[in-house]
Formats: sequence, structure tokens, C-alpha cells
Amino acid sequence: MNQVDYLRISLIDRCNFRCQYCMPEGAELDYILKQELLTDAELLTLIEEVFIPVGFTRFRLTGGEPLLRPRVVELVRAIASLPQTQDLSMTTNGFLLAPMAQNLYNAGLRRINISLDSLESDTFDQIIGNRGRSRWQQVWQGIQEAYRVGFDPLKLNVVVIPGVNDHEVLDLAALTIDKQWHVRFIEFMPIGNSDLFADRGWVSSEELRQRIRECWGLTESQIRGNGPADVFQIPGAKGTLGFISQMSECFCDRCNRMRLSADGWLRPCLLNETGQIDLKTALRTGVSTAELREQLRHLLALKPEINFKQRYAGTTTGAYTRTMSQIGG
Ligand code: GTP
Ligand code: 5AD
Ligand code: SF4
Repeated sequence: MNQVDYLRISLIDRCNFRCQYCMPEGAELDYILKQELLTDAELLTLIEEVFIPVGFTRFRLTGGEPLLRPRVVELVRAIASLPQTQDLSMTTNGFLLAPMAQNLYNAGLRRINISLDSLESDTFDQIIGNRGRSRWQQVWQGIQEAYRVGFDPLKLNVVVIPGVNDHEVLDLAALTIDKQWHVRFIEFMPIGNSDLFADRGWVSSEELRQRIRECWGLTESQIRGNGPADVFQIPGAKGTLGFISQMSECFCDRCNRMRLSADGWLRPCLLNETGQIDLKTALRTGVSTAELREQLRHLLALKPEINFKQRYAGTTTGAYTRTMSQIGG
């Protein structure tokens, strides 16, 4: 059984983008009220007194958009400076990154995953639901700045949607040839915007690999990341290509993570809430951290049963109504 030592922490459920695949157009999401968010102090107490003693050593900050969280740099510094923290990373849409990248790096963040679904500014704006001045350039600057500052590995996430951005797969893959960037293609899943999913469907990782293989060749890389991606490389390229295949392959049995939502719910699986624990209410009603450690140990023991363990393949309806921004990407 996999060791579960990786906690994905959502810092905020709000987002400054409205990606088509994540949020249905016009949808009104119920945002978490400010007083319901875990405070910085509560989050640090949970990390130090509950998660670390039970064996969690790797933390990823997500959202919504984590850079919208006030004092995010200070939070990064506090988590990075804990001696037990072996890995601290962030998943961001990159829009606010350029002016913050150096400060985040100085605070101790070393790894960053940035969404980049298109290299064409019009397509990009269409995907992120932007109707104003194009936002592509600012995200691109964020990526360049993160690279300059030294984030390593620097991963770019692409959700592939048929008829929207799948024509760009080779151009996106080509980014890895000259730069030590890691481009990951994610199979679109029926979560968030299931109407779009029913309308467009999804492209399998194997189909993408075939297209890339025909163009440049493709070798399987020895690198095995932390997460669900299968890693490949264009021969001679500096970077790698990752494929996250939750539709065509079930990787639940190698799942190593749990998720903490911005309002303090600890969820054992992205898509299965069985056994979830309301840590915020527990803390605010005086439940001791010793008791919470016991509850966490119990949940860890149950996790193999709770894993989703199901292929989505063939699913055309929404399997899950919460969006990634609500669950915590
Ligand atoms: P590292 O490998 O540590 O860099 O992280 P990661 O790939 O897990 O993180 P990232 O936030 O970049 O996630 C990329 C994508 O992986 C997400 O958009 C999801 O599509 C998918 N993913 C991450 N965790 C899970 C999970 O627990 N279950 C499923 N089904 N998909 C996941
Ligand atoms: N299918 C696949 N990936 C998704 N993400 C959000 N919604 C979906 C979906 N329906 C991804 C984003 C980002 C991460 C946090 O979640 O692209 O990389
Ligand atoms: Fe897009 Fe991530 Fe925001 Fe969802 S949370 S709208 S995937 S940037």
C-alpha cells in the first residue's frame, strides 16, 4: 500500500479565472464566507500538530487560485521553515505570479505547477472565460519569471479539450525541447463543467502520445514524479512530457494524498467524501489536536477503501457536481 504523506491544501476557493472545464458558464458558486476559512494560525496548528506527527511531509498549496490568499508569502515561509517539511509546492493559474515569484522563492517555495491550456491568446481567453484585455501575456510572463527565479521542476498543466485546444498539443509539447519545462497533458474529466464534457468528450493520453511519437519519437522517462503523471520525453529534449490519465487509467491504488479544503474539511479522495473530517469546527470547539491525530490515523487506515477506484471511461454525465476550485484542485 502506498504511503499517504502528501497533503493538498486549498488556501481559498475563489479564483480570478473561470476556466470552461472547471466552471460552467454563468454558474453561481457558493463561495466560502471569510469567517469560515481556516485562519493562518489554524492552518499552521493543523500542519504542525496533526498532519506532521502522523507522517505528512509534503504539502501542495492550491485553490481556487492560491495567490489570491492574503499573506500567502508569509504562509509559504512558515510552512517551508518547518524542519519536517520535505517538499512544498503550489498549483496556480499564473496570472498574479510574475511580481510574486521571487518573493515566493525566497520564502522557500521550490516547485510550482502552472496551468497553460493554450499558446494562442484568443483560445486562452476563450478557455479561461476572459472577455477583457487578453490575459495570456501576463500568465506567460509569470511562467518566464518563475523559470528565471529558479523554480525546479517547473510544470505546465494542459487540460486537453477536443475542438478547443487539442490542435495545439504538438506546439505545447515542443516547449520541452529547449527548456527544462515539464508539460503535462491532463485528460478532461467530468467534474466541474459536465455539459462541456458531454458536448466535447475527451482525448486519451495514448492518442496524444501517438501524435507526439509520430512527430519526434517518444521515450519513457525513468523519472517518476510525486503524483499521477506518467512521464515521457522527446528524445534529446531538456524537459519532459507528463500524462495524467484519470479517464483511461485508474491510478487510485497509487494515490498518496489527502486534501484539505479552504474551510477545513479533510477529504481522503478527490471524488469521494466518505469519512471526511471537519477539522475547522473541531478546532473551534476545543477538540484537542491529540484527538484529531487519532481521527486522522483512523481515516488513513480507511483510505484504501475510500479511494475512488473507478474508471470514468464512458461517462458522459457529471460524475461529481463540485468544481475543482471548490474541492481544492
Ligand atoms: P506533483 O506531481 O506533485 O507535481 O503534483 P500533481 O500533478 O498531483 O499536481 P497538480 O496540482 O498539478 O495536479 C494536476 C492534475 O492531476 C489535476 O488537475 C488533476 O486533474 C489531477 N489530479 C491530481 N490529484 C488527483 C487525484 O487525487 N485524483 C485524480 N483523479 N486526479 C488528480
Ligand atoms: N478536468 C481535468 N482537469 C481539471 N482541472 C480543473 N478542472 C478539471 C477537469 N474538469 C485542473 C486544472 C489545474 C488543476 C488544479 O485542475 O487544469 O491544472
Ligand atoms: Fe481554472 Fe484552476 Fe480557477 Fe478552476 S480553479 S477556474 S481550473 S484556474
